[in-house]
Parts: sequence; C-alpha cells; structure tokens
Amino acid sequence: MSSKIVMKNIFKNYGAVQALRGVSIDIKEGDVHAICGDNGAGKSTLIKILSGVEAPESGEIWVNDSARKFDSPTDALTSGIATIHQDLAVAPRMSISQNIFMGAELTKKIFGVTLLDKAAMRRDALGYMSQLNKSITDMDTKVEALSGGQRQAVAICRALRWNADIVILDEPTAALGVRETEQVLELIRALKQAGKTVILISHAMKDVVAVADRVSILRRGENQIDLEAANLTADALSHYILSGDRQIKAA
Ligand SMILES: Nc1ncnc2c1ncn2[C@@H]1O[C@H](COP(=O)(O)OP(=O)(O)O)[C@@H](O)[C@H]1O
Ligand SMILES: [Mg+2]
Repeated sequence: MSSKIVMKNIFKNYGAVQALRGVSIDIKEGDVHAICGDNGAGKSTLIKILSGVEAPESGEIWVNDSARKFDSPTDALTSGIATIHQDLAVAPRMSISQNIFMGAELTKKIFGVTLLDKAAMRRDALGYMSQLNKSITDMDTKVEALSGGQRQAVAICRALRWNADIVILDEPTAALGVRETEQVLELIRALKQAGKTVILISHAMKDVVAVADRVSILRRGENQIDLEAANLTADALSHYILSGDRQIKAA
C-alpha cells in the first residue's frame, strides 16, 4: 500500500518543553491509523503540526509523495486534511446543513443577486450524511437536538464537504457512552469504506483495537513502537503504553 502521509523526524518545542523529539510516522492510504500514548506524549502536538495549527522546529511532511508545509488550518484543509477536534466546534442552534456548510455556503444568482442556495445545501448535506448515517434524514434539524454520536457525524460531514481524503479525529469517543461510541466507530468504518485515510487519536484501547489497522505509540515526544492492529488486544495495547516496551511481543 502506498504512503498517504509521511512525517519525518519532527521536532517541536514549546519554550523549554521539547514536545516532539524526532517523531516519524508513515500512514498508508486507506488505513485507519491510531496514535496512542500517555498524556503529554505529544499526540496532539503531532496532529496540530499536520493540521497547520502549529509549525514544527524541523522535520518533513509529505502528503501523496509531495513535500508540504502548512501555514494555516485552511491550508491543510484545502490540501485534503480535515481535523475534527475534541470540542467539535459545531453550532448547536444552527441546522445540520448550516453546520456542514458553515463558512463555505453554496450560493445561487437570481437576476444578478447572490443568494444562499439552501435547497442545494440541504441536498448535498443529505448526500454526505447518507454516506455515514442513513437514519439522519432531515437536514433542517438543529444540532442541539442530536446525540453526541450524531454531532460527530455532522462534524465529519463538514470534512467531506471540503473533499478531505484524510480525516483526523482527536479523541472522538472521549465524552460518549457505550452506544454512542459504537455509532462513532461505525462512522470511522464508513469513512474507511469511502476510501478515506483516517487518523485516530484515542485513549480508549477497546475503540482503537476495534477499528484501527495500525497503531503508533508515542512516548515522551518520541516514537515508542508501531504495531499491526490485526491481532492486538486492548490489554496488550495498554501493556505497551504502560511499560514503554519497544519490542513487539508474541501474542
Ligand atoms: N501550548 C503549549 N505550551 C506549552 N507546552 C505545551 C503546549 N502544548 C503542549 N505542551 C506540552 O507538550 C507536551 C506534549 O503535549 P501534547 O502534544 O498535548 O500531548 P498529548 O496530546 O499526547 O497528551 C506536554 O509536555 C505538554 O505539556
Ligand atoms: Mg492531547
């Protein structure tokens, strides 16, 4: 499988704190690639660099075999990398379709006057949503009426609207119950089915082993170990994170 994203030898400091000390990561096209590690390991920092929020001290980012440097989140987004942050940033009082098209509304011209094309937004919103969750059909529903898992679907639709082919999810199940978590895992499977590359940051070992193809563990700003997720159990994954082991153990 070809590499979708390669980050090489990334360094990032916050003042005297060395958040990343030469981290490298190779994410294959179409994979669900989880990034795990204890608090402070550098997961969020790595994602902020990939999504254009922070600039690294040094290191390389390659996307589709081209060297890239992102100057802003919009820069990363228009390059096909959409990040769904933990706080989601959906607007509860607005409708599903308004949320999906926020900041990039579709318009139409009538007698030379530019108007919002609400019908087109409703139609396209439904198209994106049906790829993820066929039970949500009314795009005029206010987001405040949705469950946590459904809100996650709205945030992911916004990524689809930008034609992102790389979707980064930062702790998507952290605030959710069991049933809602299952819905979000279904969303991740649907993204993979649609050919997207997914980067999943998570503390929930069960969720990681349920959906990931590969797992990279970071520890204190460095790579600890990369694992195939196929035969990985939640217990084994926890063990690697707790022990700091750099050797792959037989199952
Ligand atoms: N904005 C910041 N200012 C100063 N230190 C930071 C900042 N963001 C992160 N750090 C530090 O960088 C290290 C890595 O943090 P982070 O990437 O958030 O780890 P993780 O997401 O794995 O918990 C930690 O020591 C953290 O305290
Ligand atoms: Mg974090």
